[in-house]
Amino acid sequence: QTLLLGQTFEARGNPMTTPWEEVITVNSGGAVLIEAGRISDLGDARLLRRAYPDATVHDYGHHLICPGFVDAHVHYPQTAIIASWGKQLIDWLNTYTFPEEMRLSDPAYAQAIAARYLELALDHGTTTMCSYATIHPGSVDAFFTAAGARGLRTVAGKTCMDRNAPEGLRDTAQSAYDDSKTLLERWHGQGRASYAITPRFSPTSTSEQLSALGALWAEHPDCLMQTHLSEQLPEIAWVRDLFPAARDYLDTYEAHGMVGPRAVYGHAIHLEPREKDRIAEAGAALVHCPTSNTFIGSGLMDVAGLAARRIPLGLATDTGGGSSFSMLHTMAAAYEIAQLRGTALHPAQLLWLATAGSARSLHLHGQIGTLVPGQEADITILDLASTPAIAQRSSAANDIWEAVFPTIMMGDDRAIADVWIKGAKRVAMEPAPG
Ligand code: GUN
Ligand code: ZN
Repeated sequence: QTLLLGQTFEARGNPMTTPWEEVITVNSGGAVLIEAGRISDLGDARLLRRAYPDATVHDYGHHLICPGFVDAHVHYPQTAIIASWGKQLIDWLNTYTFPEEMRLSDPAYAQAIAARYLELALDHGTTTMCSYATIHPGSVDAFFTAAGARGLRTVAGKTCMDRNAPEGLRDTAQSAYDDSKTLLERWHGQGRASYAITPRFSPTSTSEQLSALGALWAEHPDCLMQTHLSEQLPEIAWVRDLFPAARDYLDTYEAHGMVGPRAVYGHAIHLEPREKDRIAEAGAALVHCPTSNTFIGSGLMDVAGLAARRIPLGLATDTGGGSSFSMLHTMAAAYEIAQLRGTALHPAQLLWLATAGSARSLHLHGQIGTLVPGQEADITILDLASTPAIAQRSSAANDIWEAVFPTIMMGDDRAIADVWIKGAKRVAMEPAPG
């Protein structure tokens, strides 16, 4: 038994569809009991200390005890090209992304990047991520092996592309089906791993490939299907040229069996009314990638409008299109984008999106995303005074949310006091050579 004491972030419902005050609280004298890798009790520190006198106590004082952050859309292979200058989506893919993804054909390089990425993510308090790999099956093995060595709950899949990508970075409809199936059978449900069928996006898949992957998904409906949707206007115009018969971008997926409750679409900025209706009806999730959307110049997602339609929303870095590994930085960018659209997201909503919201978008809400007893004990401890700039503001706070918000807006890896993975305090691992 381990007892963590501090200020506990407690979510009992969705603050994007219910007033946040009704479903989110912070207990300033809270405690979380961990047993056998799971949260087994949550409540007042005084009561829990008395109830579990033999538990090992970690007193975090005024630190905020949060569920571990969940990054619902990331490209781990792009770790080494984060913050590459001067391009928008299609040029950025061709100039920076594809040459780097080519390098992951070398399993040793893939292993080194997977380890480097996971250590960086953990440094920033992220305990679960849903990642794209590259077209190389070895890049999936590298990721799940490195995640398993760290005990992490993760989702990933082989990125499939059979056109509009350079030689060496293309598969075929048949090999995408075969390789994805082999990887899915190897990894889905293995320890804490889940497999996501992963066509990159319509421009890099033929109809044949989308059909093959749609068929694979129909054979394995408990897997997620992740892809990109309506991120940037020139991309949407390109999709229109490539699929002249499609009603809209979503229809290029829908026509191939790639719309359903376990679909997870990244970006979804420039949606047509029909697309929003269909996504809501299907129960599919959308993932907001705010640092990417400003960095690559994509646009401003309508988070409030989509949430009002009860579409499940996740939050994500989209590293390396996104410009940060930090979910704190990502929450700050989400706040700023919402401001530009005339809504102020509350810190309770931002923290919820980065934890329970993202977990729900990945259908992992039964396992992770809150501090509710029964959940796996993935926990991130936030120091609310991690730098002088933050400390001088949070020390003048009138309530807990004023104390938390400066860390959301200005915090980075220095704010991550500790990370707990399945009930064990994280020990940083040596980055692999390479
Ligand atoms: N659309 C297709 N591939 C990508 C990618 O790697 N990053 C982003 N941001 N958008 C994409
Ligand atoms: Zn992406």
